[in-house]
Amino acid sequence: MSDAESTLITGIGELVSNDGEPSGGQPDSSQPGSFAAMTDAALVIAGGKVAWTGPASRAPAADTVVDVAGRAVLPGFADSHAHLVFAGERSAEFAARMAGRPYRAGGILGTVEATRAAPDSALRANLRRLAAEMLRQGTTTFECKSGYGLTVPDEARGVALAAEVTPEVTYLGAHVVPPEFAADPAGYVDLVCGPMLDACAPAARWVDVFCEDGAFGADEAAAVLAAGQAAGLQARVHANQLGPGPGVRVAAEAGAASADHCTFLTDDDVDALASTPVVATLLPGVEFSCRQPFPQARRLLDAGAVVALATDCNPGSSFTSSMPFCIALAVREMGMTTEEAVWAATAGGARALRRTDIGHLGVGARADLILLDAPSHTYLAYRPGVPQIAAVWQAGNLVAGAVP
Ligand code: NIG
Ligand code: FE
Repeated sequence: MSDAESTLITGIGELVSNDGEPSGGQPDSSQPGSFAAMTDAALVIAGGKVAWTGPASRAPAADTVVDVAGRAVLPGFADSHAHLVFAGERSAEFAARMAGRPYRAGGILGTVEATRAAPDSALRANLRRLAAEMLRQGTTTFECKSGYGLTVPDEARGVALAAEVTPEVTYLGAHVVPPEFAADPAGYVDLVCGPMLDACAPAARWVDVFCEDGAFGADEAAAVLAAGQAAGLQARVHANQLGPGPGVRVAAEAGAASADHCTFLTDDDVDALASTPVVATLLPGVEFSCRQPFPQARRLLDAGAVVALATDCNPGSSFTSSMPFCIALAVREMGMTTEEAVWAATAGGARALRRTDIGHLGVGARADLILLDAPSHTYLAYRPGVPQIAAVWQAGNLVAGAVP
C-alpha cells in the first residue's frame, strides 16, 4: 500500500483499541488509554497510521476495502523483554529442570561461550529467524538485549546486530560476571561502566542489569544504570526473579522504565511499583519453563501498578517467542482478566518501552495491528496453544499471514 492510499478494514467483530479513559489519575493523551473494545467496528489506515475508527455502519470510503467477517482486530503485541542475540541451545538444561534441578543464573555462561564462538552470520540468522517467528505470532514491536558476549567487542557486536532488527536495543553487559573476571567482579563492573558502555551506547536506547544473587548487587546495579544514563541510555532492570532482593528498589531509585520479572516481591516493592511510573513487566514464560511460582499480577494490579507482559525469549529461562502463550498463562495462572492480559501485552509493553505510538489503535497510532481468526480477544486465552493470528499489519503494511 502506498502512503497516499487508504484501506478500510470493516466487518470487525471486536476492535480492541486501548483508547479508553485512563483509570485513576488525570487523563493523559501521551499514553495509551485503558482497555477498550467496540463490536461491529471498522478502522481506516492511511499513511501507515490509524486514520479513523468507529461503527462499521458509519465507515468512510477508502481506496481498498477488506472485510474480516466478524473476526477480532487488536493492536500488535509489544514484547518489551527479549534476549535474541545468542548461539547454541540449552534443551538439556530445561530437561534437567523438569527432572527437578533448579534454575541458576550460571547457565547463562554456556550461552556466552557459544555466542562468543559464533560468526556474525550465525548470530544474525538465529536473530532473524526469531524475529520472524515473533512477527507471525503478532508481535509488531520487540525489545532485544545484548548480554551473551560480555567482552567489549562481543557486546558491541550484540547491540549492533540487535539494531538491525529493532529500534528497542538494550545494552546488557551487566548480565553476569564472565569467568575471566570471576576473581575481580569490581573490575568487570568498571569495564561495563567504561569502555564497554562507550562501545555499545551509540547503538542502544536502553541499559539493563541483572540485579540478583549470583549476578549483580544493589550498588553495582545502581552504578551500571547511572553510567548508562550518563551516556544517554534509559534504564530497565531484571529484578526479583529468583528471590526477594533489591532490584525493584534499584529500578525505582533510578527512574527506570520497567522492573522485569517481579516474581518475589515484598509489600514495599509492591508499594514502590504502585507509587512510581516504573512498569512491572511480568514474564510468565520464565515461571513456566523454570517451574517457579508465577508472579502475583493480581496483587500488583490491585495496588495500582502498571503491569506489562513480555516473553523474555532466551535459550535458558524462557525459550518462547509467543505473546499469546504469555497471555494465556497470565489469565490462567496469575489472576489477570482477559482484558488486563491483552492490555498488558499491548499497551503495557508500549508503556514499558515509553512508546506512545504503539500498543493502541487510537487515531494517529501506528497502524500495527493483528487480525485474529476468532471473534474476540478472549480466544487468546480460551484456546491456548492454537495458532490464531491470521494476519499482521506493521505501519499499515500487511507483513504476515492473510485475511482468511
Ligand atoms: O531474563 N535473568 C537473567 N537473564 C535471563 C536468563 C538468561 C538465560 O538463562 O540465558 C532471564 O531470565
Ligand atoms: Fe531477561
